[in-house]
Amino acid sequence: MKTNRRDFIKTATLAGTGIITGTTTSCVGEKTNKPQLKIPHEISAKKHKQSFNMSGYAAPKLDVVRIGYIGIGGRGLGSVKRMRLIDGVEIRALCDILEDRVQLGQNALIEMGMPAAKTYSGSEEIWKEMCQDPELDLIYIATPRHYHPEMCVFSMENDKHAVTEIPAILNIEDAWRLVETSEKTKKHCSMLENCTYDFWELMALNMSRQGFFGEVIHVDAGYIHDQRELNVNKAKGWRIEEFINRNGNVYPTHGLGPACQLLNINRGDRLDYLVSTSSNDFTMGPKIAELAKNDDYYKKYVDKWHLGNMNTSTIRTKKGKTIMLQYNVSNPRPYDRIQQVVGTNAISKKYPFPSRIALGDEWLNEEETAAIVERYTPKLITLVGEMAKKVGGHGGMDFLMEWRLIDCLRNGLPLDMDVYDAAAWSAVVPLSEWSVANFSSPVSFPDFTSGSYKTNAPVDIEMLNGGGNTKIKNIR
Ligand SMILES: NC(=O)c1ccc[n+]([C@@H]2O[C@H](COP(=O)([O-])OP(=O)(O)OC[C@H]3O[C@@H](n4cnc5c(N)ncnc54)[C@H](O)[C@@H]3O)[C@@H](O)[C@H]2O)c1
Repeated sequence: MKTNRRDFIKTATLAGTGIITGTTTSCVGEKTNKPQLKIPHEISAKKHKQSFNMSGYAAPKLDVVRIGYIGIGGRGLGSVKRMRLIDGVEIRALCDILEDRVQLGQNALIEMGMPAAKTYSGSEEIWKEMCQDPELDLIYIATPRHYHPEMCVFSMENDKHAVTEIPAILNIEDAWRLVETSEKTKKHCSMLENCTYDFWELMALNMSRQGFFGEVIHVDAGYIHDQRELNVNKAKGWRIEEFINRNGNVYPTHGLGPACQLLNINRGDRLDYLVSTSSNDFTMGPKIAELAKNDDYYKKYVDKWHLGNMNTSTIRTKKGKTIMLQYNVSNPRPYDRIQQVVGTNAISKKYPFPSRIALGDEWLNEEETAAIVERYTPKLITLVGEMAKKVGGHGGMDFLMEWRLIDCLRNGLPLDMDVYDAAAWSAVVPLSEWSVANFSSPVSFPDFTSGSYKTNAPVDIEMLNGGGNTKIKNIR
């Protein structure tokens, strides 16, 4: 038995007795905002028998993709406005608890001269009615995170492909539920990780596939975003509710997704284990106390904020590669996803701007970097990049992601992110929380692919083979 594994089991046993954490545990699989501080070893190491391999799975072609949306808030409405520009998309249904949010979505269709969608609003469970509509092919989930697993599972069980905002799950049992349901129903369950379509990240992936870096041995990644106001925004009250009880990396996939694609995770390699450390919180607690002086809404949150300002997790893969993943959304800092790719021959670093590339101990100059960017920009960006920038959505990556999703579904191509990615990337939330609560002890990732990662094919970086024919409507 390797030392790290022996230590993990010992620590897990001590934690299970409460000797280490002294914490109570949340119920696994429950729809809850409480963290899963006990990672039951039997779930982490679950012997799942893969009933069907969803990696590389091509669902039957859909000439027209009929979409139903759940959640027409910031993300959902933005997506409706982008999707209405893609040929072969019919937005057939819109659902939000709030009627006025549904109306905003409806207006976005009407102003483009499109048929009105069926609407669903007024109750917390009305989305289930929409998901049962046989006239839909795809459910687009843009609700607060604790709904994601339940909405994905129900959609797939009702014969729909499911795409979900990030993260896909908050506990390991739900990750397995997604995997089992996707395999059983042969329906896609894909996370909407837009950062895997960022232009620089896509280019770095292309560079790695073409051997520019040599062997990629390490990736630094993160999500550093000053969201001190957003974290406590009353109109998005789910954020404070979902973050306040947790401590770990609670939003890992913006940095981790591109890192995993670079390292062929679930397709040749897989995430093995992580260790995670959080600083204390030095900003959000005081901020909430200050707000509560003049606003009763915040009173119940005073002295309750647990999420440390700075979380750093280190992940090792089965093939001995490493990822350093950071999370910090509560300090005054410029936006940064780091995205540093370290290879045996070269490195690239997206942030801070200007993005850099080096072949030795000095960065290449602007001209040399531009030549590399031109050479390694993938076809997907050449084809859709300019339009994506015009449409917008995080500089174009949101539109690129959605166009690619539709193009794959219409051409019967595998999706770039499958259910194993949704499960493994999001699993960092509960695993990092567990590690933080247990003296940064190592914790194993489940193998959601049940061993098939050894032979699964890497993501198609050109991303156009067999596709690329989906047209985009003129922007008015
Ligand atoms: N990929 C990204 O770049 C990115 C950016 C921001 C947020 N997100 C993720 O997107 C999701 C949504 O974030 P947002 O900023 O759009 O939030 P939001 O609060 O603006 O929108 C959420 C919407 O869901 C609706 N809703 C809540 N419960 C519902 C239910 N039971 N049935 C139907 N509708 C329901 C709300 O009324 C609201 O309109 C979150 O999971 C978040 O983590 C992703």
